[in-house]
Amino acid sequence: SQGPISRRGLLRAGAALASVSLLSPMRTAWADTSGSPLRLRAAAGTAGLRSAPYGSTDIWGYDGIVPGPEIRVRQGDRIRVMAENGLDEETTIHWHGIRTPNAMDGVPHLTQAPIPVGGEFLYAFDAPDAGTFWYHPHQRSFEQVGRGLYGPLIVEEANPIRVDRDLTWMLDDWRMTEDGQLADDFGSRHDAMHGGRIGNTVTINGKIPERIAVRSGERLRLRLINAANARIFGLDFGDLEPVIVAMDGQPVAPHAPRDGIVVIGPAMRLDLVLDLTGRPDAVETVTDVFYDGLEYRLVDLAYDPDMLRASVPDWSMVLPPNPLAEPDVAAAARHRIVFNGGMMGQMMMGDAMGSMMGQMRQGNMWFINGVAATGHIMDPLLTLPLGSSQIFEMDNRTAWPHPIHLHGHSFRVIARNGQPTRHREWQDTVLMAPEERVEIAFVADNPGDWMFHCHILEHQAAGMMGVIRVD
Ligand code: C2O
Ligand code: CU
Repeated sequence: SQGPISRRGLLRAGAALASVSLLSPMRTAWADTSGSPLRLRAAAGTAGLRSAPYGSTDIWGYDGIVPGPEIRVRQGDRIRVMAENGLDEETTIHWHGIRTPNAMDGVPHLTQAPIPVGGEFLYAFDAPDAGTFWYHPHQRSFEQVGRGLYGPLIVEEANPIRVDRDLTWMLDDWRMTEDGQLADDFGSRHDAMHGGRIGNTVTINGKIPERIAVRSGERLRLRLINAANARIFGLDFGDLEPVIVAMDGQPVAPHAPRDGIVVIGPAMRLDLVLDLTGRPDAVETVTDVFYDGLEYRLVDLAYDPDMLRASVPDWSMVLPPNPLAEPDVAAAARHRIVFNGGMMGQMMMGDAMGSMMGQMRQGNMWFINGVAATGHIMDPLLTLPLGSSQIFEMDNRTAWPHPIHLHGHSFRVIARNGQPTRHREWQDTVLMAPEERVEIAFVADNPGDWMFHCHILEHQAAGMMGVIRVD
């Protein structure tokens, strides 16, 4: 049977093992900018997502592990990766959030031919922006990413902010069966019509962590990356006061999250500065509170008996800006982009309705301006002149949240529901609440055909994607 396993049961079993287990560090690969490329092999593997006595889980991963190796480079470095396909199906690698040349963007049938089984493809591009990014396939991503193909890509600032430790937490949410394997109902129609593939097992860096050791007075830079197909996290750090210093890799004025809850949708990244202000030997619990009724303990922060320092350091949290072109908001061209579809959405109006109903009969659930994308060759939704300032007025007319991602560019989020945003944050993936209107502004300065899609991967597969052409 494929019933969900009880996380509480797992945690109890884990607790019986006692002892403070540290979150094991990820494998880090420093890109060698001159010599041979880094090799990343997409292949089946196994992972100990759950601690003993549970057995391992069959996954797909880069180099057979999950997450794949953390790639670290310095800003401006050239990244060279030879992608090898050890899967039984075609694949690609997309460098999420990195402003690559179009040919390096990893979108099958749009920017490259898919990498055949047993084949390889050399990706080579510069890292113009410092920050927290990630990589994943763009081929049948609802299954390939869902089975574990992803890894962090960290681009270091020449002058980073001072912290005691710089940690990456790559979050994922797995749908597991009672026997500890991944449920194989990838791309189910039910998931596609609703909130996507929500799982029952949350991991940090490929593990269900029990406790993470910290020290009183310590300052962390915590790079959160949400690699889940569909789950949105809302992290509550208890008595701690996380400060958001970057969003989707781009610096933002340091600020506390609204209501103290750190909300991060699929594909998004948040860099937090976290001062550990608890007493020695204390334990602080990080809880995910995003979905009503599904609150659970993510991990405990366990303080060492010895203190690192007695007060919070006064080091600056302000990251240096990246070289992004500033959109001319007053002169920008404006485009209305309406999202429809899914269960319980608003009625579709007028002529578009008949067309959308017809598309739904063919299995498409989600629409951008009345069109559900199917197949490989897509006419662009919009063609934007190279170098022009653009505003997208996006309107979520559905009952579901959607993290909307544009390739090849970062954009400023300038308004929500007609109100200017406080931080005008740069993002590459913006989470839209049900019925929300969001305006984004950017300079279309990267030529090529770029994907524009929901990063709930089941929504993307069921039509919620399109192409934006810049030329
Ligand atoms: Cu994270 Cu179109 O991708
Ligand atoms: Cu969506």
